[in-house]
Amino acid sequence: MKHLDLKLSNSPRKNTHLVLFASQGEVASAHMTSHETEYVVSKIKDKEQELVTLNQYNRYVFVIKNELKDENKRLEAYRSFGDKIAQTLAKIDNKKIDCLGIDNPEDALALVEGLVLGSYIIPKYGNNAKPSPTWSVLLNTKGITKQQVSHLEVVLESVFIARDLVNSPYNFLNATQLASRAQELAALANFKIEVFGKERIKALKMGGLLAVNQGSVQPPTFTVMEYKPSNAINKQPYVVVGKGVTFDSGGMNIKTPWNYMREMKSDMAGAAATISLIYAVAKAQLPLYVVGLVPSTDNQTDSTAVMPGDVITISNGKTVEVLNTDAEGRLILADALSYAQKYKPLFVVDLATLTGSAANAIGQQASVCMGTASEDMKAKLKAAGNRVHERLVEFPLYEEYRKGLESEVADMTNIPSSPEAGAIIGGIFLENFVDYPWMHFDIAGTAFLGSKDAYRSKNGTGVGVRLLFEFFKNIAKG
Ligand code: BES
Ligand code: ZN
Ligand code: ZN
Repeated sequence: MKHLDLKLSNSPRKNTHLVLFASQGEVASAHMTSHETEYVVSKIKDKEQELVTLNQYNRYVFVIKNELKDENKRLEAYRSFGDKIAQTLAKIDNKKIDCLGIDNPEDALALVEGLVLGSYIIPKYGNNAKPSPTWSVLLNTKGITKQQVSHLEVVLESVFIARDLVNSPYNFLNATQLASRAQELAALANFKIEVFGKERIKALKMGGLLAVNQGSVQPPTFTVMEYKPSNAINKQPYVVVGKGVTFDSGGMNIKTPWNYMREMKSDMAGAAATISLIYAVAKAQLPLYVVGLVPSTDNQTDSTAVMPGDVITISNGKTVEVLNTDAEGRLILADALSYAQKYKPLFVVDLATLTGSAANAIGQQASVCMGTASEDMKAKLKAAGNRVHERLVEFPLYEEYRKGLESEVADMTNIPSSPEAGAIIGGIFLENFVDYPWMHFDIAGTAFLGSKDAYRSKNGTGVGVRLLFEFFKNIAKG
């Protein structure tokens, strides 16, 4: 569903709320009384950035001042202002806004981005369910291109899709249902999709995915999505891989309430971002060949479940001693990363809610990343992250860490004996299954929030979608 109807025009409409831009000390006073103007001026003077809200009974007037010099900070301030406006208007039916006087196209679009993302409503099952609102926004900003508008629409829709998937309770979204949702999106955006069921997964010897699935009554799925337009500028694809654990009970190493069991419907946030991203790239028709891979299952306790100490074989032939069944994400990713090898990809990125350790290390303000990609590729990813404020912090993959995963009975264990450097060890494990330039994003801290953080909504945030769309947009530009 579309949540934004964006008009570019110089003629303001009737019965709308207003967003006005204050430059230096000046405010366009035409829409305010002299008292209001005085009030606004007193509020914004000496400030680099401020949002002043006036309630004019039949409409709100928002005056924005934003003179932050750093472009990324300024854009983020605009997104936050957009969110504040959305909160003020949350209970008001009139969702028409005219934004007048923002000169810079990127600034204006960032405001709209924050407005729409900040108004996201978690789907509710039962009575009084309300959908996220649809905004009608007019911008009189010059120089905004049609492509900028369509990219913004696509990315907003895709973030909402990812959030909805993450917020779906496990009893509404098992591996089969997740794959069906991807199939629906493939039909809408015209990309190729194939969903492997249990038999095919067995035939491919995906021992990691099968082991994690062993204790479940729900079959696993492995979803392959391919967008390959005839005008693609790359012959070998970019591959995106997402962890799709639809519920992580921990398995036999069952989680306690203290390690977030009740949030574990969100353990498919990497998969949600991957599916939504492929949808976005296809919908925007970027001239890029991209592939999305989603291994999916729940992780359950049962007498049939994989037991601590079991040795399993990943599809690339490497064996793993499963010392802890709660380190399951890396097992299913091992199969997916091995599968990616057959594409001889230019670059692979995986997104996974992999370790509590990543969240403990840097919290919800950035995702942890690490990998073997070139410095140039890493710089592009980080720049895209800074631009959309889905920041990345790189952790090292020093060889010395490999010792931690030595096993007496298999090629490696899935956890070390000490909990130190848990996020890095996750990356070190995955590195065994890649033979191409690769980055791993550990989004455990950023994918699911306990409370709203401006336009990053409570619960599923859709993290990764905006970042990778920005990244691929830049790559497509050349
Ligand atoms: N899904 C969890 C990681 C997680 C924790 C995501 C908190 C979001 C919030 C993952 O499968 C897991 O359980 N990881 C273990 C790894 C450990 C056993 C090495 C962890 O982080 O405790
Ligand atoms: Zn786990
Ligand atoms: Zn998990």
